[in-house]
Amino acid sequence: MTDAAVSLRDLMSPTSIAHPYPLYERMHRRGEPVVEDPSGVHLVSGYAECHALLRDARCSSDETGSTMFHRMRGRGELSGEDAALLAKAPFMLLDPPAHTRLRRLAHTCLIPAFAGLPERIERIVAELLDAAGERESMDVVADFAFPLPVRIICELLGLPQEDFPRLGRWSGAMARNMDQAFNLDAAARAEGTRARASILDYFHELIPARRAAPSGDVISQLVALADQGAADTEEVASICALLLVAGHETTVNLIANGVLLLLGDPGLRQRVADRPGAAKAMVEEVLRFDPPLHFRTRVALSDIEIAGRVVPRGATLVLLLAAANRDPRRFDSPDVFDLDRRNNRHLGFGLGLHACLGAALARSEGEIALREFARRVRGAERLEARLTYRPTLAMRGPARLPIRYTSVG
Ligand code: HEM
Repeated sequence: MTDAAVSLRDLMSPTSIAHPYPLYERMHRRGEPVVEDPSGVHLVSGYAECHALLRDARCSSDETGSTMFHRMRGRGELSGEDAALLAKAPFMLLDPPAHTRLRRLAHTCLIPAFAGLPERIERIVAELLDAAGERESMDVVADFAFPLPVRIICELLGLPQEDFPRLGRWSGAMARNMDQAFNLDAAARAEGTRARASILDYFHELIPARRAAPSGDVISQLVALADQGAADTEEVASICALLLVAGHETTVNLIANGVLLLLGDPGLRQRVADRPGAAKAMVEEVLRFDPPLHFRTRVALSDIEIAGRVVPRGATLVLLLAAANRDPRRFDSPDVFDLDRRNNRHLGFGLGLHACLGAALARSEGEIALREFARRVRGAERLEARLTYRPTLAMRGPARLPIRYTSVG
């Protein structure tokens, strides 16, 4: 087995998207928690280093400040449309003070909407499994892991059911483009840009309607607070688009990755079905062991010294959260899935100013979905030995997961 330094190109290859963990293991074995890639990007695989950088005010979330972004613009690799959309970036890609103001606004409107969620999640999970019970096979992604978070986030935002298919298509294209800056596939990039423009147009049309007839959903709340001066319409549309995409593209992978583990280990399935609290522990261990989001990027606002290296101002940092979650300096037997793991402070939801705003919702969806799947679906087995992954490392999960089963209880 080669022991050469792992490059960005290695990480973004289709083989690596299907099997990234041997590369992370190699990075740890080489004992270099921060390495500079030939492209100038810095890859961070160490837990302590990711932890520190996520909380470091010298790390910006605004990619337009990076040397890499300026180079791409200089080489004409970003269209005018790309650049215009980046100027309307969601608050996940902004720094304080704009980030603080918009995150607070989103938080204020989301929290009341979370009331009564477990009951709604239970209801939708029951409906999906009842429907599966009428057949002998299903695609876990399309028939279970995807519809649950889409329906929940659309309900929270107050979006009509008939719009789900096109919203799902657009947000899928945006999620595939999360590796954007490293995505050398121009067609995928153009599709992601078009999808983001379509989602923003969609919300631009909806906002005046909600202003005229508020309906108690998150969008109506956002519009009401925006009209009191908290934000402009452009920013409200951008928050809605962020919540829609972040609210389900990740959770789909949490559920699908979790079901995949249940299918491979009958003992685990039994424990999750029978033992109170096991599904909760399972969600945390999936978020560590096989997380939906493998990396986030940051830009160094000044020279930053870390792990004996100086990351120069303007450099892009790829914080490999999934690699950090398997750092043997932080976790015992990191490559073992352990339901009883203690002190499991994984980085699956990030940390610091940008820590996931929907973590409570995602945890609740994951816990109920995995527990009910383990309890109700009997004799399940995979129909395809080889897994096909969605073509992005940033948001990593199976594209489909066909199974057959003997019954659904
Ligand atoms: C941010 C993971 C579900 C909304 C983040 C971040 C991570 C993450 C790692 C940090 C981004 C950064 O530091 O740059 C996940 C995972 C999920 C999940 C693994 C599911 C298992 C959700 C849901 C929602 C949501 C259900 C919405 C209701 C957000 C938002 C941000 C965010 C709005 C941006 C926060 C900010 O920049 O201040 N998420 N997320 N996420 N997440 Fe999640």
